[in-house]
Amino acid sequence: MIVVSSRTSVHLAEKIAKDRDFTSAEVEKTVFPDNELRLKIRGKLKGEEVLTVGSTNSSESIVELALLLNAARECEPKSLTCLIPYFGYARQHKRYNEGEPISSKALTMALGQFPDSMITIDIHDEQTLGYSRKPFHNIRIERPVSDYFGGRRVDCVISPDDGCVVKAAAIAQVLRAETGHMEKKRIDANRVELRLPELDFRDKNVLLLDDVISTGGTTIKAVKLFREAGAKNVDVCAIHGVFANNADGKISVFADELVVTDTLNTRFSRISVVDEVLRFLRRSA
Ligand code: R5P
Repeated sequence: MIVVSSRTSVHLAEKIAKDRDFTSAEVEKTVFPDNELRLKIRGKLKGEEVLTVGSTNSSESIVELALLLNAARECEPKSLTCLIPYFGYARQHKRYNEGEPISSKALTMALGQFPDSMITIDIHDEQTLGYSRKPFHNIRIERPVSDYFGGRRVDCVISPDDGCVVKAAAIAQVLRAETGHMEKKRIDANRVELRLPELDFRDKNVLLLDDVISTGGTTIKAVKLFREAGAKNVDVCAIHGVFANNADGKISVFADELVVTDTLNTRFSRISVVDEVLRFLRRSA
């Protein structure tokens, strides 16, 4: 399989291409005088199985991925699979207010016209998969997270809302820890109200688990609540570290440890999703 990557995911594409079943094709990127992106895939994709890798965490990255997918399709590959490690815009997976878009549907339909199938990783809500007319699979990243925390004593794995309950419970089971979730009410994009679950956190090692950290508002508030409740240690883990407005720096002040996966390339990306991606690709080959 030949891997081609957009700029958001070069770090992942390089790791995937280290596997003996993969090679990578270089993508040349320049800009036109008016700042429009110009890209060119170097290497022959005709008749080959091709995997594009690109996250959609910004408007620019969405345009780049659309161009990359179209460029790959125009090369007439045998098959074209699109991996979107972090599917941005997935948090608006339904229409919250009249006049607003279903953003994840818009993206799925726009990008989904080019590949034969799509793959993403721990998407915010699996409802988005149903917006695709083609196969669209969500890879869940529980195993590498459990492995990462496996050697330490974790007393409870807590999700900051009901969205990560299943994941927190699965990881808690492996770590032989308690699990629960907070009650969360979002006031606006920057403010949330949180309430701890009815558990005793005194002298406990807590692992706060979320799917995505954006502004860090949820995380910081949750960590403070655990401290107030007497927790001994509070580690924070999220699958996707978006870290808007230096959120990672702010969280580091409050948490004992902050760790995210490498769906996005951050200085806290110490858990890799690559083995899970390779496992999935092999299974579906
Ligand atoms: C929301 O449902 C997600 O699971 C995250 O908790 C949320 O997106 C985090 O956002 P922020 O970091 O801006 O509080």
